[in-house]
Amino acid sequence: MEAPPRFVVCKDVESVAASVAVTFDELARAAVAERGRFAVALAGGSTPRRAYEILSDEYLGWRLPWNHIHLFFGDERCVPEDHPESNFRMARETLLSRVPVPAPNVHPMRCEGDPELAARAYETELRDFFGDADWPRFDLVMLGMGEDGHTASLFPDSPALGERAAWVVAARVEKLNSTRLTLTLPVINHARHLLLTVTGAAKRNRLKEVLPTEPGAGPLPVQLLRPDRGRLEWFLDEAAAPAFLAR
Ligand code: 6PG
Repeated sequence: MEAPPRFVVCKDVESVAASVAVTFDELARAAVAERGRFAVALAGGSTPRRAYEILSDEYLGWRLPWNHIHLFFGDERCVPEDHPESNFRMARETLLSRVPVPAPNVHPMRCEGDPELAARAYETELRDFFGDADWPRFDLVMLGMGEDGHTASLFPDSPALGERAAWVVAARVEKLNSTRLTLTLPVINHARHLLLTVTGAAKRNRLKEVLPTEPGAGPLPVQLLRPDRGRLEWFLDEAAAPAFLAR
């Protein structure tokens, strides 16, 4: 890892969302300027909603070079794209339908049929974009954290956590009665920038447990995040941030 994790603690959820949106803007501009494109894996769940809405604001998001920005997903629930649980639906409502990103630049994880086939299909799409390297190198992977310490759809004790060859796997999450697709840990850890957004008092205790440990040490999925040649940044509100990170 190039540098220790960076922690950004903001007073409230709105400030966290604004900081995430500004960071996305900065990373996107830098990537396009340096490499001609910005490849990002969007986070699912509910936390990113506000940051995506801010990003779609005309005074910020509309100035971005969307023709050179490619939007992928870090994980997806195996439901129809218009299902309330769909991460694609959430991103479409808050961002994709509000900014001039060309349709070919949006890469949903489609998973309505056989999840294993869907995982292979998405990996093929990634290989088409990134080339047949050992691992894809996203410019940014946006992630959240569940109260159990999962991230993307890498859940504690899941076989998916041990995957060291495939780029995308199907994962059955029995406790949620949910089947999902997820980027695997090596893919996530090959990104240039990992951006975790965690807010709310309900996650504070888990953060107290995971943040002091050396990235990559585990055992929880979120503790296995350790970008090989990249940055790891946490964006937290005061409600979630443990006392040792108090502003
Ligand atoms: C998902 C996400 C998942 C999410 C956490 C936190 O598809 O659910 O990828 O990893 O980031 O579960 O979810 P909230 O943001 O809703 O708390």
